[in-house]
Amino acid sequence: MSLLSLNAISGGYSDVDIIHHISLEVQRGEIVTIAGTNGAGKSTLVKAVLGLLPRVRGEISLDALSITHMAAEDRFYAGLAYVPQVANVFSSLTVRENLLVVRGVKQIQSRMKEVLEAFPALIEKLSQRAGNLSGGERQQLAFARALMPAPKLMVLDEPTAALAPALVEKVFELVTELPKRGVAVLMVEQRARQALEISDRGYILDQGSCVLSGAAKDLLSDSKMTQLYLGNH
Ligand SMILES: Nc1ncnc2c1ncn2[C@@H]1O[C@H](COP(=O)(O)OP(=O)(O)OP(=O)(O)O)[C@@H](O)[C@H]1O
Ligand SMILES: [Mg+2]
Repeated sequence: MSLLSLNAISGGYSDVDIIHHISLEVQRGEIVTIAGTNGAGKSTLVKAVLGLLPRVRGEISLDALSITHMAAEDRFYAGLAYVPQVANVFSSLTVRENLLVVRGVKQIQSRMKEVLEAFPALIEKLSQRAGNLSGGERQQLAFARALMPAPKLMVLDEPTAALAPALVEKVFELVTELPKRGVAVLMVEQRARQALEISDRGYILDQGSCVLSGAAKDLLSDSKMTQLYLGNH
């Protein structure tokens, strides 16, 4: 049984469908990438998973629980974590406060210690305001926050988009660590090649439909894929 399962998902923001009949699976321990051109519907699909899309048809389940009609808040308690691309930490709060304001975490102090083991750089910054962190540290804090409730699946929409090239590698390293901590990953990325290199499988969207999917290594060596979606280098 898959951790996340999307069965024939269609939907959009009004009566016009933006995504069409998309089926997708994430298994426990997997990193799965969604790639595709601008406007293909990647963020829309992620919103459907998170419960943020106004109109959705099809079936979504998380760890054998149907979440199709569940409110976004309840999906969070069911084990979905989301790191938005921007505004993912509270700038005016300290690092410690950012970790301690996460809702619904039991024994939050000891959980914070556990999470911080993965982000030693943050331990020295606990009393600093998040707004004064470097871009890379802030991204680590965003990940740490998302990990506080011990989610089953982390959803990332372009985690490297706003970052300087030097930080991109770092973020991909953070993503690679997640399955080792028992958290599967569903990630949208513009940097499709780099994302697939650390992924188990990938799905390619075009105009709201899934046009290609498979093992990441197969997608990386697929000539159609390389030409259309990965550039020729
Ligand atoms: N809030 C919204 N209301 C109405 N239409 C929207 C909304 N958000 C996105 N769309 C439309 O849905 C389509 C898909 O957008 P989406 O943001 O899902 O694409 P994307 O693949 O994430 O693109 P990008 O790579 O640029 O982030 C676009 O035509 C867009 O204009
Ligand atoms: Mg998007």
